[in-house]
Amino acid sequence: MSQVSVVIGASGGIGQAVVTQLSDQGESVYALSRAGTALSVWGDNVETQALDSNDEAAIAAFIQSLKDKGEVVRLAICTIGMLHDDNASPAISPEKKLEDLDTAQLTAYFSVNTILPALWLKHLVGVVDKEQATVVCLSARVGSISDNRLGGWYGYRASKAALNMLLKTAAIEYNRRTKTTTLVSYHPGTVDTGLSQPFQANVKPEKLFEPEFTAKQLLTHIKELDLKDSPHFIDWDGKPVSW
Ligand SMILES: NC(=O)c1ccc[n+]([C@@H]2O[C@H](COP(=O)([O-])OP(=O)(O)OC[C@H]3O[C@@H](n4cnc5c(N)ncnc54)[C@H](OP(=O)(O)O)[C@@H]3O)[C@@H](O)[C@H]2O)c1
Repeated sequence: MSQVSVVIGASGGIGQAVVTQLSDQGESVYALSRAGTALSVWGDNVETQALDSNDEAAIAAFIQSLKDKGEVVRLAICTIGMLHDDNASPAISPEKKLEDLDTAQLTAYFSVNTILPALWLKHLVGVVDKEQATVVCLSARVGSISDNRLGGWYGYRASKAALNMLLKTAAIEYNRRTKTTTLVSYHPGTVDTGLSQPFQANVKPEKLFEPEFTAKQLLTHIKELDLKDSPHFIDWDGKPVSW
């Protein structure tokens, strides 16, 4: 059995930074993204594959390919997420008021932010390392129900809250079936990527993180988490976020 890491959404701002750091650490990494693009700084220990998570058969085939090679997943990080989509017709942007709620937009938020990570939770359960494994989904503090003081961003908030509930529920089953998998919902802070770009105007410079910073924080903090308290909802500082 050889142990591998899997990064899903490896062409995104945070996904790229996570792959780069795992590459530098000499881990065997699968970097999965729809475009299948690689960065030149990634070493031979990174295998880049084009995979669209909207095609569940492609997820299943990837998992089967790991099993065929006798590989188990020690670390999986799903970075998939969407806050705005300028290419959608009409364009998707976070709702400011109830009148902005729209069926197609809400469906898109739940599809990307909730359902795609859920499919990965479904398929990863069969291939995680039975000695010790960590599965991380990139969530957001705005998905915290108890911390919602500002309102707005209905679809993004609700789809991340639903992702958190899926993680909570899956953690109970992972605990029963694998016994050794820690599940993590991670809030990366406000990070300078395409996702946050239109919303950075009011963010203080010291509160706008580089992707490399939040990736480093993530890879550091997950080593400190206790399996018995899984699932964890933590932020970039390693502090718990209320669900
Ligand atoms: N940036 C922030 O300030 C911030 C704050 C809180 C939470 N987050 C969360 O952190 C995660 C990473 O965000 P980021 O800042 O790195 O954003 P990003 O650069 O826009 O990356 C988003 C990722 O989501 C995937 N994705 C988007 N739409 C998709 C779709 N329709 N189907 C399949 N995959 C799709 C992309 O996958 P491909 O690689 O396949 O293209 C990409 O890797 C997200 O879950 C986001 O919600 C970010």
